[in-house]
Amino acid sequence: MISTQAVMIEEAAAYIENKGGVKPEVGLILGSGLGVLSELMEQTISIPYSDIPHFPVSTVEGHEGELLLGSIQGRPVVMMKGRFHMYEGYGPEMTAFPVRVMKQLGVKSLLVTNAAGGVNTSFEPGNLMLITDHLNMTGRNPLIGPNDSSLGVRFPDMSQAYSRKLRSLALDKAKQKGISLQQGIYAGLLGPTYETPAEIVMLRTLGADAVGMSTVSEVIVARHAGLEVLGISCISNMAAGILDQPLSHEEVMETAEKVRETFLELVMAIIPEM
Ligand code: 6GU
Repeated sequence: MISTQAVMIEEAAAYIENKGGVKPEVGLILGSGLGVLSELMEQTISIPYSDIPHFPVSTVEGHEGELLLGSIQGRPVVMMKGRFHMYEGYGPEMTAFPVRVMKQLGVKSLLVTNAAGGVNTSFEPGNLMLITDHLNMTGRNPLIGPNDSSLGVRFPDMSQAYSRKLRSLALDKAKQKGISLQQGIYAGLLGPTYETPAEIVMLRTLGADAVGMSTVSEVIVARHAGLEVLGISCISNMAAGILDQPLSHEEVMETAEKVRETFLELVMAIIPEM
């Protein structure tokens, strides 16, 4: 039997394919303030999320809601400009729905980026961090419920959630371009509050280097779907209790703006070879 979920994915993908853009090979999900990559896309067609059957609609300022198809350095891509977060009230399966649609469109690898708080005290705001692994601290999982085996296996392996091959590609490109790239573990929490200093001590004890409110459910669904994943965090601020200053979304957006050029240079070099 075909699941409701599979039908929804097919309907969303069919709508997008009918718009006549490229057939994408790489999927891109861009975090807060990092959507500027869309300006470097060519032959772009843009589809508002609100037009796509079954797509959720994004609600946070600084996140735009549109799906873009086009090419970057000659590589056909599909880009989510703005993503869905659980703190908006979406279940984890909704935040990850677009990933399944990307898979249906033909995507083989996924680049996820986010703005994250630095938990590792040797990091500085403005650093870029290659995600080596994650801690799912949301208490949720997008794969809960009956498994549709046409979408993936019941018990997906997560031992290389972030592809070793793509990580080594990112490290090579960063080295070539003289861009410093930290590496570390991303802890994904629900939000929307930032963490308390005590929670940050806990997360550091558990091995986290950075903390944020996105990415883990998307990556879980991507691995379920057999996509290779590359993740890059922009360390937009230090997490609570490290510096004696309050955290704000404004600071997150300002830092993203400052690293924009470096971030673009790095991902532009990576995408053609993903
Ligand atoms: Cl400090 N925490 C969380 N959860 N998300 C963030 C952040 C911190 N900084 C940027 N995004």
